[in-house]
Amino acid sequence: MYTADMRELMKKVVETRSQRLGKDFPRMSPEEKIDVLNENHPDYTDKGFRVLKHGVNKGQRVPKELADLIEAKSKLENIDINLGKIDYDVDVLIIGGGGAGAAAALEADEKGAKVLITTKLRFGDANTMMAEGGIQAADKENDSPDKHYLDVMGGGHYTNVPELAAALVKDAPSAIKWLDDLGVMFDKEADGTMVTTHGGGTSRKRMHAAADYSGAEIMRVLRDEVRNKGIEVLEFSPVVELILDSDGKAAGAVLHDLETGRYLVARAKTVIMATGGAGRLHYQGFPTSNHYGATADGLVMGYRVGVELAFADTIQYHPTGVAYPAQIFGALVTEKVRSLGATPLNVDGEQFVYHLETRDVEASAIIRECNVKGKGLPTPSGGSGVWLDTPLIEIIHGEGTIEKRIPAMMRMYLKFGIDMRKEPILVYPTLHYQNGGLLIKENGETQVENLYVAGECAGGIHGKNRLMGNSLLDIIVFGRRAGKDAGEKYKSIEVKELTLDHIKKYSDEMKYNGVETDRVSPILLPSYTHGREEDEKN
Ligand code: FUM
Repeated sequence: MYTADMRELMKKVVETRSQRLGKDFPRMSPEEKIDVLNENHPDYTDKGFRVLKHGVNKGQRVPKELADLIEAKSKLENIDINLGKIDYDVDVLIIGGGGAGAAAALEADEKGAKVLITTKLRFGDANTMMAEGGIQAADKENDSPDKHYLDVMGGGHYTNVPELAAALVKDAPSAIKWLDDLGVMFDKEADGTMVTTHGGGTSRKRMHAAADYSGAEIMRVLRDEVRNKGIEVLEFSPVVELILDSDGKAAGAVLHDLETGRYLVARAKTVIMATGGAGRLHYQGFPTSNHYGATADGLVMGYRVGVELAFADTIQYHPTGVAYPAQIFGALVTEKVRSLGATPLNVDGEQFVYHLETRDVEASAIIRECNVKGKGLPTPSGGSGVWLDTPLIEIIHGEGTIEKRIPAMMRMYLKFGIDMRKEPILVYPTLHYQNGGLLIKENGETQVENLYVAGECAGGIHGKNRLMGNSLLDIIVFGRRAGKDAGEKYKSIEVKELTLDHIKKYSDEMKYNGVETDRVSPILLPSYTHGREEDEKN
């Protein structure tokens, strides 16, 4: 429910609507984009970052919160793990129960591997489940993987690892077909043609969706398929450290059974890390659209065994997180809302940016409007936001479009007495995605032999900025690639003696580099009580 003040301000949106209708707001020139990014995007300041003192990326900057977890002790530093007692012995160990892990598991299983998925919460509790807008693939006549490639590279400011971006777009059409064949209920026309829309920075309509719960639909199908194939899944069993063998190759992991508190040893010929993102670290104080488990665990554990981080200082702030009501502050307002024609407006009801600029540019323009130009709308909890003129969607595409194309979004707002079919909504950028991560090769393997990474914890594919719909795509493409490769490679691997010696080595090197700390990582879950213990004592 909007306050009386907000309703008063909303009148401007209604007043200006007829003049705005049918007119395309001009896109920014390259120079304007550089300016708005430099002056407003949280990545383009030094404020939220610090330089790593230690490890493969020593001397490079990463968000402070991530640096604290990387420069921290292992949970196992003072725990004696008996590596001679093997609790699980598998060909392919998959760490993470989201879309990338599930896709990898299915492909490795198909190759005949004995696969184990271990996940810290329930199978499917992951950012995949929360993805809304869709998945990109150039599978229509007016499109091609080459065009998709140019968009991906342009969106990433041409910093992407070209081979990874090429692999992403090349496999995209077959990824959609694979999902469709498995039973994902994509939006289709009556004749079976896939419905596709634009996203920010796309030159063709190539966003395939299942309404505005595309990720949940994909996860539903992948999870069912994993269960139907009889692949073993351990829930509430996060990995707390990777295990190497005496040749320095990945050879398993130590799991922490959250129910019994016991540490368990999983030996594996190949390991696929698919632990997801880091939104719950709330970089620079931003709210997040991410799942509760997004705490950078994979980055921390991969870094500890020597995998390089790529683009770890580039974070995606989704332009449209919920600014109001406070109960859902930071939740995702899918880009599909803008794809369908809703435009961002300031307090005067004026559009100030083209509605489908790439995410980094769009978010920066909103931040500038609120924080520099003072043209945002104040929210009751002391923040600010801009309008997203959602009733335009019904005006442009006809009554019923919102309920049909973005029903989950509509219901989310209705619960708070806001009908987005009739009233605009208030948005502000929210921490959505880590553009970078552990550097991979085209087959998903890292520079540590037999260790693969897939999904949001992989880095290099998107360069400095990912486009909408390329994340659901990358979990499928690189999950499948990693699963296929590991599912073949294990056949010629003999695991040598298991070791956790790298933990002590890492800790000694930290001390040598001047890092003295009591911090312990991975943290596994965010601490929203941090500091409150002290308050309660006083
Ligand atoms: O806006 C969205 O629906 C998000 C999509 C994505 O991050 O790819």
